[in-house]
Amino acid sequence: MFAVVLVGGFGTRLRPLTNDIPKPMLPVVHRPMIVDLVERLAVAGITDVVLALGFRPEPFASAFVNQRHGDVRIHYAVEPEPLDTGGAIAFAARLAGIDDTFVVANGDVITDLDVSFLINEHHRLGTTATIHLTPVDDPSAFGVVEIGAAGVVHRFIEKPQPGDTDSNLINGGTYVFEPSALDLIKPDVPISVERDTFQTLVRQGRLAGVSTTDYWIDTGRPEQFLQANLDLIRGVRGPKPVATDPTAVVSADAIVIESVISAGVVVGPGASIADSVLLPGACIDADADVRGSIVAGRVGAGATVEACVVGSDFSVVAGSVHVGQRLPNHG
Ligand code: GDD
Ligand code: MG
Repeated sequence: MFAVVLVGGFGTRLRPLTNDIPKPMLPVVHRPMIVDLVERLAVAGITDVVLALGFRPEPFASAFVNQRHGDVRIHYAVEPEPLDTGGAIAFAARLAGIDDTFVVANGDVITDLDVSFLINEHHRLGTTATIHLTPVDDPSAFGVVEIGAAGVVHRFIEKPQPGDTDSNLINGGTYVFEPSALDLIKPDVPISVERDTFQTLVRQGRLAGVSTTDYWIDTGRPEQFLQANLDLIRGVRGPKPVATDPTAVVSADAIVIESVISAGVVVGPGASIADSVLLPGACIDADADVRGSIVAGRVGAGATVEACVVGSDFSVVAGSVHVGQRLPNHG
């Protein structure tokens, strides 16, 4: 069975982290998100994953040597220009010759959803497309779904305005599609699956939704990316992995509290790291204080960095204080 994974977004909301690394290749506790996703799809019986990209595939090659991951074959579908979510699904599916029921997944979602359950529900409901739904407190940044008793989607509202809907069930970004859904997507033009294809399927009564309460997070914004990391090392999601990579050099008198310290990271004497993610390449100088932040660059001696994102090419000046900033700030 095939899955199309959407990985072609620009990761704008995670800049500067996504300046050199596509969002799905960012590591969550030492493993690129996309690897976690491919393994979850494999468990559900997916044999072939087509990565739908709007740009160069090279960054993904390091995660998938020989275009394989375990028993799963990895294919690349590089759009000549970004085709938006619907256009990308159709482009990838046509290129790969998909002609049977297939799975689609947003590449920036981390979830414990049992994808085989979604596939079974799709067949039981007998619809053209079935989307995974998850409840959230604030649905405004998502596709919000109103659903009827038999699982049929009555309304799909992408990024609703306040007052548009009372539903707190959102599109979780994992779908099961019949190939006939592709007939609704014109080739080679940008089309949003959420604003276009799903709207047509709703009007025709051919879109179903299946809600679960599995762990679910969209890592598109820095706070969520940080949360996804901290949830793992705090044991909120599954068994706790090792938070500090053995190749990191952490000074004996540095203080590290509930943080991810990636391979090769250096933490100097007297530094304090709390509720943070230090990505590969990060360097924290002596007596620096890093809290609630994601750091890929350098934090100078004695500097304070709180609720910040520090890009790989940035050095925080020694002794300076930064709160709630992106460094550098790309606007
Ligand atoms: N190949 C390709 N081409 N992929 C794309 C393109 C494109 O032109 N545009 C976006 N993508 C990919 C992104 O990389 C991401 O994996 C996925 O499509 C969704 O795009 P996001 O930019 O992350 O969308 P979102 O998070 O605002 O909203 C989407 O996900 C929510 C759940 O996380 C929507 O599907 C919402 O309805 C949904 O609730
Ligand atoms: Mg997203």
